[in-house]
Amino acid sequence: MSYISELKNFIGQSVTIKGWLYNLRSSGKILFLQVRDGTGIVQSVTSEKDIGHERFREVEKITQESSLIVTGTVREDKRAPDGVELTLSDVKIVHMAEPYPIALQAHGVGFLMEQRHLWLRSRKQVATLRIRAEVIRAIRDFFDDRGFVLVDAPILTPAACEGTTTLFEVTYFDDKAYLSQSGQLYNEAAAMALGKVYCFGPTFRAEKSKTRKHLMEFWMVEPEIAYAELNDIMELSEDFITHIVSRVLENRQEDLKVLERDTKLLEKVKKPFPRISYSELCDLFEKWGHKFQRGADLGAPEETVIGEKFDTPVMVHRFPMAVKAFYMKPDPAAPDFALCVDVIAPEGYGEIIGGGQREDNLAHLTERIKEQKLPLAAFEWYLDLRRYGSVPHGGFGLGVERTVSWLCGSEHIRECIPFPRMLYKIYP
Ligand code: 4AD
Ligand code: MG
Repeated sequence: MSYISELKNFIGQSVTIKGWLYNLRSSGKILFLQVRDGTGIVQSVTSEKDIGHERFREVEKITQESSLIVTGTVREDKRAPDGVELTLSDVKIVHMAEPYPIALQAHGVGFLMEQRHLWLRSRKQVATLRIRAEVIRAIRDFFDDRGFVLVDAPILTPAACEGTTTLFEVTYFDDKAYLSQSGQLYNEAAAMALGKVYCFGPTFRAEKSKTRKHLMEFWMVEPEIAYAELNDIMELSEDFITHIVSRVLENRQEDLKVLERDTKLLEKVKKPFPRISYSELCDLFEKWGHKFQRGADLGAPEETVIGEKFDTPVMVHRFPMAVKAFYMKPDPAAPDFALCVDVIAPEGYGEIIGGGQREDNLAHLTERIKEQKLPLAAFEWYLDLRRYGSVPHGGFGLGVERTVSWLCGSEHIRECIPFPRMLYKIYP
């Protein structure tokens, strides 16, 4: 048995492919079958002469997405996407599919989302998932090669990390628990044990917003480093993002082509990324004539403006403390602002990284927890990290699907995870 992605190496030879029928065209005497096997799609040609009258009549009736095993000779064909075509000598139908709900023509997204389990078989969905897998591999390699230790954070947690408004609550025996919004707090404990760590897993946010950038369940990778300061975090973010982009450009050209992605835009992603403080950004908004309430958090309109002005991701640092989470460390030079950074992707894809330096002083951190009316008892273990050998430290979180969405040039983040969890939607 062979795989379609390897056919170039078998020109002139006979191969067998196990897969599914993507599409069938007939010109009366000749049948053109597009066969897919997960590694690619190959145009296959057969005639009555090749497979006999009876089999030909059968094959004529194959429905879309029927499973089949084909045998044929690989021929060079410069016009074909992979440069090869098959001349079939045998076609075995494994399972004749019922009338397939997804035609190759356009469907509404609402319908396609209901058919997500089948929609995954479509060309662009396959390309997107391959790029997602490449991004994940690049992420792991980046941290593993730089001496970070993978330490998994729990998913069931007793307290909020990123604010109490987006918590998913579950019953935990006689108690309540929440699905993790971020592994950061546990990562901080692990960094005090191992120096440089990362966690990587699904995170959950009950976001009541229906946008092209929000999922209820998304994957986040979070490095955390003992003795790191804001500048170290910014440098690491920059190296990390350029690494991911170049790996996708290196290894996934075919998939980017299927998605009709303009790769010239991705090739422009080079270090250094602009570093702009929140206050400087507010001045720029004024200069550009973009209305913005100084002191507010950035929203989609701001992310769009930034995306239009720069070719590379932009690092916006030192946001007002008031719009950021309780664990942020204030800038000693301007204590109303946090030592934090958000990395905003080009082309309006929005924030892909959020991170910064953590409050490492026990008294200040306790104060912040009280101010934000968080349950102090649930954070006692976290405060211990400031009681026993506290050090400056920091890290960030990168959203995998936001990153994939940007790299693929997707219209909506929902196509960048196999089975998206959306506002009020959890089927299939
Ligand atoms: O900026 P956020 O909320 O940062 C944290 O959770 C920190 N605790 C991370 C850390 O410092 N260890 O989220 C980080 C990233 C965002 O920049 C975005 O890419 C992604 O997670 N993200 C989402 N992606 C999809 N859907 C959502 N609802 C998301 N919310 C955040
Ligand atoms: Mg953020």
